This record gives sequence, C-alpha cells and structure tokens, in this order.
Amino acid sequence: MQTVHEVDAIQRRCESLRREGKTIGLVPTMGAFHEGHLSLMRSARIEDDVVVVSIFVNPLQFGRGEDFDNYPRDLQGDLAQAERVGVDLVFTPSAEAIYPKGFQTYVDVTGLTEGLCGASRPGHFRGVTTVVTKLFNLIRPHRAYFGQKDYQQSVTVRRLVADLNMDIEIVLLPTVREADGLAMSSRNVRLTPEERRAAPVLYASLRLVEERVRAGERSAKDILDAMRATIEIEPLARIDYVVLCDPETLQPIDWIEGPVLSALAVRFGDTRLIDNLPITLS
Ligand code: PAF
Repeated sequence: MQTVHEVDAIQRRCESLRREGKTIGLVPTMGAFHEGHLSLMRSARIEDDVVVVSIFVNPLQFGRGEDFDNYPRDLQGDLAQAERVGVDLVFTPSAEAIYPKGFQTYVDVTGLTEGLCGASRPGHFRGVTTVVTKLFNLIRPHRAYFGQKDYQQSVTVRRLVADLNMDIEIVLLPTVREADGLAMSSRNVRLTPEERRAAPVLYASLRLVEERVRAGERSAKDILDAMRATIEIEPLARIDYVVLCDPETLQPIDWIEGPVLSALAVRFGDTRLIDNLPITLS
C-alpha cells in the first residue's frame, strides 16, 4: 500500500493507472475508520482493480462552532486497517494543498441540500460537494463508494455527478450498525459512557416508524410525534430534527403513500449523530 500526500502525485499516479486500463474505486473518507468505512473498502476491493482511499478532514464542510478541531483523527490506525483490507493507495492531502491560497471556486447542489442536515448546518453540503468534486477530478475514479448513513450526502453526490456529467458510478452501501443498533460513526467515540448507553434510542425510533408504517399508519404527523416521544425518553438526547421525506427529493411528506425515508439528527452533549431508515411499501 502506498501513501500519497501531494495532489500532483496522486493525479499522475491515477492517470497512469487509467492509461494501463485499470478500473479505480475511490472511498472518500475523513478517517477515524470503523467497520462502515471498511465495508466500503472491501466492496471496492471486490469490484475495482485499484482501491484508492482518501483521508482528509475537510475544513470546508464544518461550520463555525462545529467539531472540526475535535473531529476524531487516527492516521496510523487508519493506515494499518486500510492495509489489512487490501487498499492500494491512500491519499492524505493537507488543507493547504486542497485549498491553496487564492482558492475561490465552490460547487453547490441546491434543493436537495436545503432541508434535513442542510437546514441546521448551512454550508456543510457545499463543503462536501466542493471537496468531492476535487477528489473526483484528481483521482478520476470509475466508482466511488458512500455509506447510506449519510443518506442526504449520497443523494447529493449522485445529483452532482449527474448534473455535471461526471462518468462515475456512485455505489451506496448499507449502514453498518453496532449490536445494539447504533449506526457506526467516527463520532461515536466522543460519546460519554452514559450517552453511548442512551444512543441506541435513535435506531429504536427509526424501527418504530417502520413498524407503524407497516402496520398501516399513514399520517406523518402522528408517526413523527411517536418518534419524538421515543427519543425524548432519553434525557440526554436533544433532537435537532426528525423527518419523514421522499427518499429521492428529500421533500417532507404529510401522508405516506409510497417509499419513505425516516431520518433524524440528535445531539448527545457536544456530539451530533445522524441516522435514517428507508422504508418501501410492498
Ligand atoms: O462522508 C464523509 O466522510 C465526508 O463527508 C466526505 C464524503 C469524505 C467528504 O469530505
């Protein structure tokens, strides 16, 4: 496994791999790997000739007062895990290399990024789509792998790729969960033991939505009230949002008639967790 820091070097290396006819799979990450990241790398390992993982805690997608400084970082641990799953290239650029002096170009997907996390984290998705575009331009992957836990991010990246005619397949893989249902996230390590004990309530609330929908309940308001009540049983949980929306447009829905995405963001102390569950009606 090779580690590359410089943007010119990764661009040259990936260009020559392409010329050799190799397919490239990219797993873009901010590091602090958990099983969710590793599952993306394993899929890329199966589907692509060359697996590239980027590790970059992207300052542009963190707002003022958010956890950029405290975001978990563990480069040595990450490199060891990437090597174990058979990654070929790890790209670890500096912020100065990605955003050099004079940088003033941003990529903005509108609409899809306005609700859910976009409402409470203004500028977040602009940061994501800008850095993802840069990574796509540098690495020119055939496929790029994203986790369903960041559902809004994945539909936004799909939109970006379609709208800007990028010839990249976006592969979306299921959320990996702890035994008690908590979605794996790099931020979970920042939960106190009490918060960690309370956090499975998030998945419990999503499962409750699924049960209610499957039992024939159709009023989003009634279901969301039940979802909130479930989460609020945990005094440490502070709801940022709970929503039932269209899985493609992410527009909130009042009455469930087709596929629906239930999604939430909840804070435990300083740690903001997100999760979601898509539900299809048979
Ligand atoms: O999902 C993440 O870890 C980040 O948002 C991404 C896609 C690597 C962009 O910084």
